[in-house]
Amino acid sequence: MELELTNRILRNELFCATLSQIENLEKGRIFCGHSLPHLLDTARIALILCRERGISADADVIYSASLLHDIGRAAQYTDGTPHDEAGCIIAEEILRQVDCDEEKTQEILRLVASHRKGGGEDTVEGIFCIADKKSRLCFACPAQSECNWSMNKRNMKIEV
Ligand SMILES: [Fe+2]
Repeated sequence: MELELTNRILRNELFCATLSQIENLEKGRIFCGHSLPHLLDTARIALILCRERGISADADVIYSASLLHDIGRAAQYTDGTPHDEAGCIIAEEILRQVDCDEEKTQEILRLVASHRKGGGEDTVEGIFCIADKKSRLCFACPAQSECNWSMNKRNMKIEV
């Protein structure tokens, strides 16, 4: 099944330019990066968890929100704006450019805005936040000793 909105975002010029700006700004960063592998891992884990827990979720919305959830990182690195706040502004513009309808735009922006704080574990917002964290390979990370994540937040084992 083709995810139409997701693929329109992937081809959008502003999305591609901002993602490559983030990749440039993260060159030499020892901590987790925010490029496509992380964005797609977040989508896949979120969708698996939603399906396992019987939470209804539109795959195109989950993938689109995953692609956009860290898009504010460039602003955070350059002017200090928290990336969830900055991300909503850029994401809204990208969604307008790709002709996303109003209902999906609001669902996606809600996920971008809440991805750091989450929500109940039985909500899409909660699952999305968990998936974002679960996508990180802490057990193989060379920067473990400098990471500010608490030990209980780190993924030190592979779990299903
Ligand atoms: Fe993330």
